[in-house]
Amino acid sequence: MTIETTNEQVIAKAAALLRAGKLVAIPTETVYGLGADATNDMAVAAIFAAKGRPQFNPLIVHCASAQDAAKYVVFSEDASKLAQHFWPGALTMVLPKKAGTALSLLVSAGLETVAVRVPAARVAQAIFAEAGLPVAAPSANRSGAISPTTAAHVVQSLGDAVDLIVDDGACELGLESTIVGFFDKGPVLLRSGALKTSEVEAVLGKPLQRHTEAETNPQSPGQLLSHYAPAASLRLNVTDVHEGEALLGFGPNLLPTQGLAINLSKSGNLQKAAARLFSALHELDASGAKTIAVMPLPDEGLGEAINDRLKRAAAPRI
Ligand code: TXA
Ligand code: MG
Repeated sequence: MTIETTNEQVIAKAAALLRAGKLVAIPTETVYGLGADATNDMAVAAIFAAKGRPQFNPLIVHCASAQDAAKYVVFSEDASKLAQHFWPGALTMVLPKKAGTALSLLVSAGLETVAVRVPAARVAQAIFAEAGLPVAAPSANRSGAISPTTAAHVVQSLGDAVDLIVDDGACELGLESTIVGFFDKGPVLLRSGALKTSEVEAVLGKPLQRHTEAETNPQSPGQLLSHYAPAASLRLNVTDVHEGEALLGFGPNLLPTQGLAINLSKSGNLQKAAARLFSALHELDASGAKTIAVMPLPDEGLGEAINDRLKRAAAPRI
């Protein structure tokens, strides 16, 4: 890990590291973000590993402009209005994902929506523009810890897990972005933050709905069941594969099967497994198999998040 005070060379270095799939702590006007190439599965998996997230929370995709963001999500009329007024700035919007985008499926943890934000901070803007990539970035702290508003906070929380920390002093706002979701029933406040709710409501000309856990929190089991689960049912910790089942494997000893099989990592690498998890589930599901048999994965490191996700996908459907 290196920590460098921002200047043109450091910005170029940060952009090059992002393009190479590395992790860079980037100052924004809200908090420092732990950034990685949002189109690179392994880089996104590295974010989860560095944060020690026990689950795959979906991440915010940071773009240099609203035009860039429109490559990945579909803007409603209300969403366009907010983008025009508040971007670049401390607003994140959760919008339906465009079909066929280059984004890693791990970024949105298998959801059909993506959170997008265009930050105003000059350094963040410069890094995104130079990298020419959408950048996935949660706050640059270990899971459950306080959000970092200085480079020193990032060092304390993540240390060597980050390849470069770009130091631009204290964040101007010091509070995370305000998150607004757009669902069938209209705009919903998913997280209050640095942008005042009343300002958002004034531009929309109507009140934001307050989010109730069961409806919009991707961590709540109800939501996970309806949004994350493949059409096929999952059978976990299998030691053999039944006829007609597709196999999600892990490790060097793939179970014998006549059907479709995908090995998340032949070498037993959990970061690789995390990187492939959602695309593998999609592919096995698309094969039309009624059941996906899943080999056991160790419950350590990223394995905990993978197993959490698999357990939720295997839970009885509503
Ligand atoms: O100010 C900020 O927003 C900072 C800077 C770095 O941009 N980022 C940040 O990220 O706070 P994070 O990961 O700590 O919080 C993002 C929140 C999470 O609670 C996550 O669940 C939610 O956004 N989120 C992301 N994608 C979502 C989606 N598709 N649907 C619903 N919630 C989503
Ligand atoms: Mg956070």
